[in-house]
Amino acid sequence: MNMKHIHFDILNSTNEQAKLMLNEYDKFIVTADMQMGGKGRKNRSWVGEKGKNLYCSIGLKHKYTERTLEPHSYQFAGALLAYKAITRVLPAGEVRLKFPNDIMVRSKKGDFRKICGILTEHIFYGNMLQSTIIGIGINVEQSEFPDEVKDIAISLKQLGYEVTSNDIFNFLFDIVSEFRFESDEKIFDAWHDLVQIEGKEVTLLSDNKKYLVKNVFDDGRLEIESLSDTSIKIIDDGDSIRYEYD
Ligand code: BTN
Repeated sequence: MNMKHIHFDILNSTNEQAKLMLNEYDKFIVTADMQMGGKGRKNRSWVGEKGKNLYCSIGLKHKYTERTLEPHSYQFAGALLAYKAITRVLPAGEVRLKFPNDIMVRSKKGDFRKICGILTEHIFYGNMLQSTIIGIGINVEQSEFPDEVKDIAISLKQLGYEVTSNDIFNFLFDIVSEFRFESDEKIFDAWHDLVQIEGKEVTLLSDNKKYLVKNVFDDGRLEIESLSDTSIKIIDDGDSIRYEYD
């Protein structure tokens, strides 16, 4: 299917614009040089300088005659798409997919910092998945970040890569055009291979205790076992745990 690209100078949020454009197009990417109300996960905001970063949303209107993927598969797909675009520039050894879908890269100091965030939203009609919006923000040419995030965020420019947000968009556009949103299993397997969290030790921030990741369920939730008392917990949120990516 031909994919449309629609670009705006300024928008509130490309995810919000994508919701409007789903009335017109079935598969498209909307980009903006700047977002005035960029949205992050958990009602956080996503801010960045004008024209320096990639702010984009993929809109997918599902055909009601065809089976859709499970909603969580689109979230995994978003991580795979962004990972593929970033590794067109950076060597894969420098890039990590942090559970469930933040993309981290090794800074010059050696720690891993966030270069990309993904916000996936769905529109349901009753219990039928009608459309999906995969919002992707990639830090490209920004050379400084606000104090609150300057030690945890990073851009390609800060790593010494001279690419523009338009270059990254062109990579992403090709990757999305070729991506097959068809098999939950294949998408899960590819995501699972990249996230590599099974068997890792994680710290649960709510009790500051250590756990082992025993299992990753098909919907992306983690089964973790306490290293102190073998109790089991289920985790569906990357912000509730801390772990080493290496
Ligand atoms: C996160 O919290 O990590 C997710 C951030 C997602 C940001 C992107 S930027 C393009 C798209 N439009 C938005 O308003 N948010 C997403």
